[in-house]
Amino acid sequence: MILLTGGAGFIGSNFVLDWFSQTDETIINLDKLTYAGNLQNLVSLNEDTRHVFVQGDIGDRERVSELIVQYRPRAVINMAAESHVDRSILGPETFIQTNIVGTFRLLEAVHDYWKTLDASSKKEFRFLHVSTDEVYGSLNKNAPAFTETHRYQPSSPYSASKASSDHLVNAYHRTFGLPTLITNCSNNYGPYQFPEKLIPLMITNALAGKPLPVYGDGKQIRDWLYVTDHCSALRRVLEAGEPGDIYNIGGWNEKPNIEIVRTICALLEELSGSPSNYSYLDLITHVKDRPGHDTRYAIDARKIERVLNWKPGETFETGIRKTVQWYLDHQEWVTNVKTGAYREWIEKNYSEQRS
Ligand code: NAD
Ligand code: TYD
Repeated sequence: MILLTGGAGFIGSNFVLDWFSQTDETIINLDKLTYAGNLQNLVSLNEDTRHVFVQGDIGDRERVSELIVQYRPRAVINMAAESHVDRSILGPETFIQTNIVGTFRLLEAVHDYWKTLDASSKKEFRFLHVSTDEVYGSLNKNAPAFTETHRYQPSSPYSASKASSDHLVNAYHRTFGLPTLITNCSNNYGPYQFPEKLIPLMITNALAGKPLPVYGDGKQIRDWLYVTDHCSALRRVLEAGEPGDIYNIGGWNEKPNIEIVRTICALLEELSGSPSNYSYLDLITHVKDRPGHDTRYAIDARKIERVLNWKPGETFETGIRKTVQWYLDHQEWVTNVKTGAYREWIEKNYSEQRS
């Protein structure tokens, strides 16, 4: 079996659902259930014994050790994190606690366990750390895309905390021989993404007739990957990645934010019709830019393609269409995640800060 952390979040719940469509191997899912964790995403697994959910913190060293000793997983996949750049600007502390201290304590617990294994189990064991392309910082317009050897130059408290966690994971490989793998993936989108990130925020605001807040001129570029492609890449890295190695994962889909927002407006009109007295495009509102905003991310995904024979299955056009349709079909999910705490966040981030 495997131990997955953060498996009730956006990528985590897609990963769990995708995993069981491919294999019956048990997942122990350790998640703290912060605002971003949502067991409703996994309701279809309620009666499924292959999925064992445990509410807990990766920074709780004793609890993590107990779990590892009890279940003896063959691999740990660490997805638990605070993941939203804007939240890291307004309150970096939890990012340091979970992304850095939490990853450190998880590594300690895993290392202690790994030392007790026999030689062959030690060799087979994997610690897969799920990270982001944001650790590499911002690219100029014509600069080549990020390769695995690109210098780390994170800009936000979020990306700095992820960069720190990557360094710790590498150190546990170099110093102690722990068989680690690190993946640095581009921006994901798809079902179950919390509506604080660009794509679900724009879809849900448009459907509610609310402004579509584009930071600055909207010309910043992100490289988008449909979430199930990220999941298949992670499975492949776990299966065949070389311990100590890093793999960049991306979809070769660089798009300026404003183009993403316009595409969403057009798809909403096509799939659900226009509002009666205005166009979704009229809702686009340019607001104050994010401090330290990275202007461009782009992933060079040739290594994972060459070495592990992995390629994305979706294009941006197919992925964004599926995503918009999913949000149209799951408006109750959106209503349920927009709790009081969500409203407070939206108020804080988009009022004084950005008007
Ligand atoms: P998310 O915010 O949707 O989910 C994070 C999950 O981690 C939540 O379920 C939350 O409850 C859980 N969690 C938070 N702190 C925890 C703790 N201390 N202990 C245990 N669980 C905790 O994030 P996501 O978008 O699904 O991202 C998952 C991982 O992938 C993160 O490590 C992120 O850095 C990385 N990543 C995300 C993207 C992206 O575009 N979303 C891209 C590349 C990499
Ligand atoms: P986001 O989804 O927060 O991901 P990240 O910052 O990790 O790349 O943002 C994606 C891009 O969209 C980023 O350039 C910031 C921009 N953005 C907006 O213009 N408006 C918004 O309301 C949000 C949330 C993001």
